[in-house]
Amino acid sequence: MADACDTAMIRVWDPLIRIGHWVLVAGFATAYLTEGEPQWLHSFAGYAVAVTVAIRFLWGFVGPRRARFSDFVTGPARVLSYLRDLATGRAERHVGHSPAGGGMTVALLFALALTALSGMATLAVEEGQGPLAGIVTAQSLPAWMAEEEDAYERGEHGEGGEAFAEIHEFAANATLLLILLHLVGVICASRTHGENLARSMITGRKRAEG
Ligand code: HEM
Ligand code: HEM
Repeated sequence: MADACDTAMIRVWDPLIRIGHWVLVAGFATAYLTEGEPQWLHSFAGYAVAVTVAIRFLWGFVGPRRARFSDFVTGPARVLSYLRDLATGRAERHVGHSPAGGGMTVALLFALALTALSGMATLAVEEGQGPLAGIVTAQSLPAWMAEEEDAYERGEHGEGGEAFAEIHEFAANATLLLILLHLVGVICASRTHGENLARSMITGRKRAEG
């Protein structure tokens, strides 16, 4: 029986998903831990995250079946009922993303994109550097934020810089929170179904359905 399980493996995650996943892990960890300094390393890691997320969004429309958003994006009702079942150990096994895994995938991609874009905006406003230089300026801030900005010390970050830096820091921490939930989800689902989902993200293979 064990042999049958071992041999009945199918390819689920294509190389782009897998390499992209581990680039995101390394890029986020490096960017988070460097906290902006040294700037070349921080930006390099952040750009790696941004490019990977952009490619993953496109792959979600043109990639193979398990990579497509249409394969795993469901409504909140299905996500909630899956989470309820997971809590009671009765969750149905999914070969691709589960409803909660699919929701987390979309949430992580948006949170990572917001973090990287707000970082580029901070760099553009503070230093006039990076891909958003000249596109995002202190004047891009909505009026209510610009007023808040007056409450900060303008000297340290330049006009507008502090507000973007605050957004960037908030986005980075919100993403970290999602990542922690993501890890809890991966561990719970792995235990419920007696399989190592993290290993599948390396090998790309999972036990066949049934
Ligand atoms: C910076 C940390 C991390 C980020 C940003 C992240 C992000 C993501 C994203 C975006 C996906 C969706 C994959 C796709 O469809 O393209 C995913 C799936 C997955 N990640 Fe992570 N991840 C992180 C850390 C980890 C770690 C440390 C592990 C292993 C312990 C892990 C295990 C998995 C697994 C198993 C899946 C597939 C979930 C499923 O079976 O539905 N992740 N992750
Ligand atoms: C998605 C990955 C990224 C993560 C997780 C991340 C995380 C962080 C964190 C935690 C800080 C320290 C915040 C604080 O305590 O003030 C920071 C600062 C900074 N980041 Fe990022 N970052 C990312 C991407 C980027 C990118 C792509 C850029 C620009 C190209 C960038 C530019 C900056 C700058 C200029 C600062 C200094 C802000 C200040 O003056 O306080 N970041 N980042």
